[in-house]
Amino acid sequence: MSALVVTGHPRTGSLTGRAARAAADRYGADLLDLYAEKFDPALTEADEPDWHDPGKSYSAEVHAHMERIEAATEIAVVFPVWWFSPPAIVKGWIDRVWNHGFAYGADRPRLAGKRMLWLGLAGGPEGYFTANGFHTAMDRQLRIGVSRFCGIPDAALHLVYDTEHRSGDDVLAEAAAALDGLLAG
Ligand SMILES: Cc1cc2nc3c(=O)[nH]c(=O)nc-3n(C[C@H](O)[C@H](O)[C@H](O)COP(=O)(O)O)c2cc1C
Repeated sequence: MSALVVTGHPRTGSLTGRAARAAADRYGADLLDLYAEKFDPALTEADEPDWHDPGKSYSAEVHAHMERIEAATEIAVVFPVWWFSPPAIVKGWIDRVWNHGFAYGADRPRLAGKRMLWLGLAGGPEGYFTANGFHTAMDRQLRIGVSRFCGIPDAALHLVYDTEHRSGDDVLAEAAAALDGLLAG
């Protein structure tokens, strides 16, 4: 196993940051803390796909991130739920790094065989998410729209709900159990 744990939260002491770091420590994973590494989520022309050229060379920063994804057999993305989505810094990592010719659109699916977990920490209660279809929407967007689209059918979304009303220990225990399900498997 060689895992990549990706996270995006401005505060290292956040529940999200603590859950990601603890899992990376437990499994000796490569921790990609997008804020700490000052990742720029804005797509520039250098990283814009050229639909006629799946072999396009992107920026050096993006190629370095692609290597970290390729090196991993398991990928966990640990994020706070902001407006029923991952935050912009995580979205930008997908926009820029999960790029044409690398994650999709190549003759040979490069990411096939990897396993993936999207772990979102949500302040609100599960009932609000299910009543409004937000869990389904996020599951379709992340598990199907990104993972499966990029040749990773073995992917899951787990949302840890109610972080604003539960104890930190309780939230972190649920997050750890979900991450163990991927990383110990
Ligand atoms: C900009 C912003 C948007 C948020 N949007 C949502 C939301 O759509 N649904 C929700 O349940 N919680 C939302 N929250 C609450 C976060 O999910 C919550 O702060 C987080 O799960 C708590 O963990 P943390 O300590 O890692 O921030 C939002 C918080 C922020 C700062």
